[in-house]
Amino acid sequence: MGSTAVEFKNTATSTLLELVKNRRTYYGLKGESPISDDAIERIVQDSVLHVPSSFNTQTSRVVLLLKEEHQKVWDIAIKAIEGLVAAGHVPKESFETSTKPKLESFRAAYGTVLFFVDYEALAPIKEKFAIYADKFDPFALESNAMSQYFVWLALESEGFGANLQHYSPLVDEEIAKTWGLPASWKLDAQLVFGTPTSEPGEKQFAPIEDRFKVFGK
Ligand SMILES: Cc1cc2nc3c(=O)[nH]c(=O)nc-3n(C[C@H](O)[C@H](O)[C@H](O)COP(=O)(O)O)c2cc1C
Repeated sequence: MGSTAVEFKNTATSTLLELVKNRRTYYGLKGESPISDDAIERIVQDSVLHVPSSFNTQTSRVVLLLKEEHQKVWDIAIKAIEGLVAAGHVPKESFETSTKPKLESFRAAYGTVLFFVDYEALAPIKEKFAIYADKFDPFALESNAMSQYFVWLALESEGFGANLQHYSPLVDEEIAKTWGLPASWKLDAQLVFGTPTSEPGEKQFAPIEDRFKVFGK
């Protein structure tokens, strides 16, 4: 599976591929960091600055939350789902035995990166290129996902473990209120990161032959 020995001109390419292969979903995390907060901030800022976007529209918005600020996200999620339990929309039993411990495990981590898309910022370009108007929203989300992946990869390269969560729209209003964020920032994903306390689960791979073709080699 992609294991034929090949040589790259730039050793950074091999390093990059190793990082890609080693990135996994880590759920067991603790609130310690192997690197400085400034180094984390640099990774996240660089993702905002340098990850590409369609027509260079730069629609991604990102909030980095560390320590107590990070814990607030998961308090918000716990409270939101407690509300659903109280309203009878979520069974109390499954909340207590499964959902709550999962949310508390995210809370036990070191930080959360909130990834938003500002779809409203696309209004002028949608007008300018009306023929592509319906493409810009998906393009913006694709660009956001690139940032998510880059930050996930870079944090794990520095010794963190991370997992990607999606609690929108349940937590949107409270998150915007807590950190005074613009109403046009639409939350997509939450990347939880911390020092790993357990290994990721085993991963199955569908045969590469069913998923990839090459012609003209
Ligand atoms: C777009 C996307 C959405 C995901 N959403 C969630 C999620 O909401 N909760 C979660 O625990 N994992 C989520 N994951 C993680 C995947 O389940 C995980 O990446 C996949 O099972 C492969 O495992 P790996 O990350 O260890 O390689 C998501 C991953 C991607 C790429």
